[in-house]
Amino acid sequence: MTEMENIFKPDDKNIEKAAKIIHEGRTVAFPTETVYGLGADCFNPKACASIFEIKERPLFDPLILHIDDIKKAFMLFKEVPCKAEKLMKKFWPGPLTLVLPKTEAVPDIVSAGLSTVAVRMPKHPIALALIRAAECPIAAPSANKFGRLSPTTASHVAEQLGKGPAMILDGGRTTVGVESTIITFHENKPVLLRAGGLAAEEIEEELGEKVLRPVISGNSLPSAPGCLKKHYAPAAEMKIIKRGDKTEKDKNTAYMAFSEPPEDFGEYGIVKILSAERNLCEAAANLFYMLHELEKAGIKKIYAEEMPHTGLGLAIMDRLKRGSVK
Ligand code: TXA
Ligand code: MG
Repeated sequence: MTEMENIFKPDDKNIEKAAKIIHEGRTVAFPTETVYGLGADCFNPKACASIFEIKERPLFDPLILHIDDIKKAFMLFKEVPCKAEKLMKKFWPGPLTLVLPKTEAVPDIVSAGLSTVAVRMPKHPIALALIRAAECPIAAPSANKFGRLSPTTASHVAEQLGKGPAMILDGGRTTVGVESTIITFHENKPVLLRAGGLAAEEIEEELGEKVLRPVISGNSLPSAPGCLKKHYAPAAEMKIIKRGDKTEKDKNTAYMAFSEPPEDFGEYGIVKILSAERNLCEAAANLFYMLHELEKAGIKKIYAEEMPHTGLGLAIMDRLKRGSVK
């Protein structure tokens, strides 16, 4: 079997086939609106263990459960504060993950022994159809090797995981392009565990209060075990710069700009523009995709321009910072 032979088009027949694979305790990679996930039956600890094995992911890093109906969240969460329910109603399906105390139904391997579990309802017809057909919540981390770039196409998954997943459903390029925003609650206040595809400002507007940021304030707020310093890393060395900063320039270097090429663009091997219109949603959707392209082109060093720290710029900056840790 070649690398691409486990990529399937997501028609009804193949979604049924994928659901059967999930039932049998094996894994399926599938598209969501954020990035591709590597999914297994969340109630089957052995199947969940194989996710860790395929990704080479440490067991301390818990998985996100994907549901197709808000009601199912109440089987997985023991307590749902009013504010969390408000967010579910407003933003699900969509790129928001909630972390709340878990029920006994959730196996320990899913939550990595924590008393909480992460759940989201993706906004992607193929993901929703698969969850529905599988008749169980699907545990799914991003379908990449641990610490590496997240996949935004089926071939990104195949390149990193090969024949690891029994099947890869090809839904084309994902639209959001960065992972979901993760929110938990501490003393009934919302806490941002990971900046992602839903802007923190939108959550603040819905709740009418500030979302606390544990990383920036360095306080004792809860954190996500998987949000390690080095993560989302391309094979090349990456450096965040401001426009006009001094850089090395040759065919092995690349410049990733927000909206405009640098003056000396001809001297870099490759120049990428995240969004000519300075649209942060478009920039987020292009981020991992373009980093994959640079990786494939064999670029050795990437200079990434600093982005605005608002809206989805926060999620982009988070990925750039973690991807540039040596
Ligand atoms: O957009 C997404 O969220 C994608 C798609 C596939 O849904 N999934 C994804 O999963 O990004 P993953 O496993 O790559 O990232 C999940 C993050 C990790 O940083 C993990 O530590 C955190 O969620 N997490 C999961 N359960 C948690 C919990 N109970 N408490 C704190 N953090 C948790
Ligand atoms: Mg991930």
